[in-house]
Amino acid sequence: MKVLMVCLGNICRSPMAEGIMRHKLEKHKIKGLVDSAGTANYHVGENPDDRAIAMAQKYGINISQLIGRQFNVNDFDNFDRIYVMDASNYQNIIRLARNETDKAKVKLILDEIYPDQGMSVPDPYYGGDEGFENVYSLLEQACECIAQRLK
Ligand code: 4NP
Repeated sequence: MKVLMVCLGNICRSPMAEGIMRHKLEKHKIKGLVDSAGTANYHVGENPDDRAIAMAQKYGINISQLIGRQFNVNDFDNFDRIYVMDASNYQNIIRLARNETDKAKVKLILDEIYPDQGMSVPDPYYGGDEGFENVYSLLEQACECIAQRLK
């Protein structure tokens, strides 16, 4: 199972999701590969935001070495599932899809815990630490749900 986590900048939400999902696969002894990417190119080559690194570290997950990259069309071939954080990411990725197979891989990550509600993981970039705590909590629940179904 190859899973790609996608947000806008690839420095806050999707690197946290990547770290949490990798941790879940290890915990449940599930074979798989996890990566993350941004729809935008603003932060390509950068490590995650310090607040995202600190939040993951608080729960024993090290994401400090991850490096931002932009989503590209080859990701449709390289991954089985593409989890997006919000409705805007969803539109941006769907726009790049070449066919129905590509489109079928793209899912809102919070649909895992709140099916068919179209909920988004809020962008924490311009807010305070409580935003990162909320993002962590949502992603932790969603990734646990994904892992349980993969077992
Ligand atoms: P992310 O957060 O999409 O969760 O990585 C953001 C990071 C950077 C920006 C916006 C959102 N930005 O505008 O630079």
